[in-house]
Amino acid sequence: MNIGIDFGTSYSAAATFVGDELTLIHFGEARQFRTAVFFPEVVPDPNDFQLTPELDAQVEAHIRSARAQQRQFAMEAQQRGGAFVERSDSELRRDALRTVRRQWMERRAAESPTATVESFQHALFGDEAVEAYLEYGDGNLIESPKSMLGYRLDPQVRKVIVHIATHILEHIRLAASRQLGEAVRTAVIGRPVHFRSSMGEKGSEQAVEILREAAAVAGFDAVSFLEEPAAAAMHYHKRLTTRQAALIVDIGGGTTDVAFAELGGDELPRIVHTWGLAKGGTDLDINLSMHSFMPQLGNNVTRVPVHHFVEAASVHNLPKQREFRRQDYRMVDEPWQSRLRALQQPGATTRLNQTAERSKITLSAVDDTHADLGFLEPGLGVGIARADMDEAVEPFIHRMQRLLAEVREEWPGVPASVFLTGGTSRSPIVKAAVRDSFPGIPMVEGDPSLGVVSGLAVAAAEAATATV
Ligand SMILES: Nc1ncnc2c1ncn2[C@@H]1O[C@H](COP(=O)(O)OP(=O)(O)OP(=O)(O)O)[C@@H](O)[C@H]1O
Ligand SMILES: [Mg+2]
Repeated sequence: MNIGIDFGTSYSAAATFVGDELTLIHFGEARQFRTAVFFPEVVPDPNDFQLTPELDAQVEAHIRSARAQQRQFAMEAQQRGGAFVERSDSELRRDALRTVRRQWMERRAAESPTATVESFQHALFGDEAVEAYLEYGDGNLIESPKSMLGYRLDPQVRKVIVHIATHILEHIRLAASRQLGEAVRTAVIGRPVHFRSSMGEKGSEQAVEILREAAAVAGFDAVSFLEEPAAAAMHYHKRLTTRQAALIVDIGGGTTDVAFAELGGDELPRIVHTWGLAKGGTDLDINLSMHSFMPQLGNNVTRVPVHHFVEAASVHNLPKQREFRRQDYRMVDEPWQSRLRALQQPGATTRLNQTAERSKITLSAVDDTHADLGFLEPGLGVGIARADMDEAVEPFIHRMQRLLAEVREEWPGVPASVFLTGGTSRSPIVKAAVRDSFPGIPMVEGDPSLGVVSGLAVAAAEAATATV
């Protein structure tokens, strides 16, 4: 049985066709789960590395052998009549330190149970993962691992990320196999047009590679990838009885993806062009947090540089989080000092981010809300009005409209409809911005959560028929 998997930044889901029936895989009672994993063991952190006498002796040994090698090279160069540029002692020392630290990390990882996939047996998923982390305040919570796949990763971190992706894909495969009553071994996995990346297109290539590796370890014999807006197009195609050009806009948690396609009728769907922006709902949470919460923690009031607050708000960026936790705020005036130090406690940035996301979601339905920040200081809270939200998310809206303007410039013709999906499309501000970008074109609202996974199920069913 071939299934479609939507490995989302915020939520993951899976679906397939049983006969003609679209069947969503259930995870407990739910049809999707928050893409978060909690595991209690500690992953080696390079910052825990300390030069013990034993490790120092290893550094010295590396320096000695590098020096001997240098002498050898210098001699050979002299014999050939060439020149050899010697490296300074401090350079040799830096290299030796780096090697010893890497070997230390590898040893720790090998000793640590988290280094093996089996050890993730105690992992928790979804909201349960977030809750366990907040309750224990220890261990590792990895939220939105998809956001990390396209970043420059050192080999050790890459290994951990592959394990996490493996675990999520295995969780999905096992749930699907149980529900469908047969072993699921193939899948079509959705991917954004551009992953969030620090290396441009290379980041997207790395992300797909990681997912491929993870899928193999998770027990899939074969997987293929389909761009998420193309998947949503496959779903919309099924709803259209007559042929038309359509624009698909999927605004998710991590990315905003667009496809221009010819859909409907008896012919096969044809994806003409896709566009992508590596920004989504998680950026809105950071925007709102910076706008409404961080002034309560001293942003723009104290001399704490603004980047500290950005680091605290960026919960999906582990190096930034670590950086924030390492700061010393004992010199900051009260009340900000205590609030900042409370925010450095385990789980507090996650809680602040959750509060930002919840406030954002509430403000999609009502005009103002009250955010409780009592976990930072008893009684602390802040009122947020729709106008604050408008102001906070302005940078995202502006960037998204720029993407949509590009789409308009590059599309081959005016589409008959704009099909809107993705969780962030629930926001009235975002929806209005999309409508303003395409005046006069009817907008069709799909299921914000299930458009992509439903289309992936269509693609999975077609691929299965094609290979029978
Ligand atoms: N009512 C709402 N108003 C505004 N945003 C919302 C609302 N409901 C959910 N969201 C946001 O939608 C996002 C999740 O959307 P979705 O499930 O489409 O993302 P995803 O598929 O996990 O991410 P991606 O496709 O980018 O990898 C989250 O940022 C969530 O906060
Ligand atoms: Mg999505």
